[in-house]
Order: sequence, then structure tokens, then C-alpha cells
Amino acid sequence: MRQYRIALLPGDGIGPEITNVSKRLLENIAKKHSFQLTFEEHLIGGAAIDKTDSPLPLKTLQACQESDAVLLAAIGSPRFDDLPRETRPETGLLSLRKGLGLFANLRPITIFPSLIDASSLKPDLIKSVDLMVVRELTGGIYFSKPKGRVKTDSEERGFNTMSYSTMEIDRIAKVAFELALKRKRKLCSVDKANVLDVSQLWRERVDSIAKNYSEVDLSHLYVDNAAMQLVKEPCQFDVILTGNLFGDILSDEAAMLTGSIGMLPSASLSSEGPGLFEPVHGSAPDIAGMDKANPIAMVLSAAMMLRIGLNEEAAARNLEESVERVLADGYRTLDLMSPGCKALSCSEMGDQLLLSI
Ligand code: IPM
Ligand code: MG
Repeated sequence: MRQYRIALLPGDGIGPEITNVSKRLLENIAKKHSFQLTFEEHLIGGAAIDKTDSPLPLKTLQACQESDAVLLAAIGSPRFDDLPRETRPETGLLSLRKGLGLFANLRPITIFPSLIDASSLKPDLIKSVDLMVVRELTGGIYFSKPKGRVKTDSEERGFNTMSYSTMEIDRIAKVAFELALKRKRKLCSVDKANVLDVSQLWRERVDSIAKNYSEVDLSHLYVDNAAMQLVKEPCQFDVILTGNLFGDILSDEAAMLTGSIGMLPSASLSSEGPGLFEPVHGSAPDIAGMDKANPIAMVLSAAMMLRIGLNEEAAARNLEESVERVLADGYRTLDLMSPGCKALSCSEMGDQLLLSI
């Protein structure tokens, strides 16, 4: 029997609730598709700070490195807002990305027909949206040096550096071109080459990689224009390739096209080791522990884990179809609730999903 080791990271806020739902579903899916999953739970984020003083204990990183795939719920809590940056929950996530070499972040944005009215954009504009944000995840302004804060007699200065090497640009560009080949063969690279040197290099390298992918229709947009085009005419996009900071911002914007960030999964991949699969949303501390959260983004992240991380395509499809069915039947968590639909708690949504796999 095929066997996989999953490192499960519930994290903070609504994390444990949505993890319970995802784990139950995965156990059932595995049984149905004749493979075995073993789960090992580990601490990250605020939960890890509380117990170990570190947002990413070494034990967690090692367990993740030794797993076949990592499934993470969410990190972050306002309780830690005043800590120095190195000891905040977010630093745990960034160190995990770096520690696993997860340079490629894939954020698919698709519209569920039954949720089309949840978007703040007109249905006509978004009904055929199907795009993928490919965000570079271990470089750029998030990680480059020098960075820090320096005090002089009269003032203090804070600074970061946005840098990319040709190696870093080439490898993420290849991921994006390969994905475009399997999709609609359109790739839009987003930068700020009219202002930033780092973006000029980015654009030159993407153009150079494009020579090996003549079947892909490549375009370039400046990031400010891309932000505008995303709400003006989102259907023009297939694959969007961009750096760490621009990808962070544009993927939240693209996520809202669907009406709820509570629906969006992501995959972060390295060149050979295990991938990390996590919802795009955060830990929603305002509703933590109240059984009100929407578990679907994590369930769909689990589906991406099955497909990309474990190569279990049929099981992945099965899980995604159960989400489609439950939504089509009118079941909604509170964030998606609309008149005539049936409101469910997080765990009840888990029950419904379980019934439909
Ligand atoms: C994301 C998040 C993270 C990021 C935070 C939590 C560090 O916003 O995954 O988009 O900025 O990358
Ligand atoms: Mg973000």
C-alpha cells in the first residue's frame, strides 16, 4: 500500500479547527483510494512561541524536512504584535519557507459558479476567471540583505533590500512557463522595471527564458498597472509570474475576486524536497475557537497536496468535487452566507464534506 508521512501544522487562531476538518477528510479519502497517511502534528507560530519561545522550533523544521508533504493551517495572533520581528509568529512561517527551500508559491484563483454573487465585482466580469499567481517566495525584499534599523544621534532609519539573482529569477520563471504550457499558454510577468534595477534584470531574464517556450504568449506589466487590470478585466490573465512582495499583494487582490479569501488554497514548492500546502487566509483571531471558520481553503490545500505533493490525482479530484457538491447544495459557512442558503459551523461543514466524498 502507498504510504505517506504528513507533517501537520495547526498553528494559531482558527488553525486547529480547520485542521480537524481537513484531517478527517484526508483520512477518509485515503481509505477510499487505498493509500495510507500518517500524521505528525507540530508547533509553529504563536502556539510554538507559547510552548518553546521560538516561532519555528528546530523539531518542527526537521519533522517537515523528513515528511512527504507539509500541511499548514494558519499562523499569527495580535497577542504577539509587540514582539521584535525575529520572534513574531510570521517569522516562523518565513523561516519554514526558507528552511525547506520553497521558492515557488502557486496560488490558483478559480470561481465556484455557486458563489459568483459573493464577489464585489459584477458576475459577468469574473465568471470565467481562472488564473494562477506564481510568486517567488524565498528571495526579493523579504529576505535580501542588507536590512535592519540604524540609529544616529538625530533619527532612526529602517531599510530592506530588494534583490534577485539570475539563478533565482530563472528557476521561478521556468516554473511559471511550465505551468502556462499545461494551461492556456499565456504568461504575464509583473515587475516595476520602469523604476527598479532589480526589475530590469527580472524582465531581461524572463525574456531570455521565454526563448525556450515559444508556444507561450508572454507579456509584461508594471505592478501598478497589473493591480488595476486585475479588477478591470481579470479574465485576461492565465499565469501571473512575479516576485515576493508584488506576489503577496497581488495574490490577496486576486483572491478577493472570488468573494472570499476563505476559499483559496496554495502550494509552495522546492526543487526536490517536500512541498508546503496552506490556505491563503490567515488565522482569523476574531472568530478563533468559535467553530465559525470556513475550512474550505485548507481542504482545497489538502487537495493540492494530494495532487502535487503525493501524486494522488484521483483523490485530489474527489476532494475538490465534494467541495463543489456541498456548495452547489447550498451549504455555506458564515463568511459565504447568502439568503436561501443553509448556514453551517466549521465542524458541520466538515460533516457535509465527509458525506459527499
Ligand atoms: C502570505 C502572508 C505571509 C507573507 C505573512 C503571514 C508572512 O501574507 O502568505 O501571503 O507575507 O508571505
Ligand atoms: Mg499575504
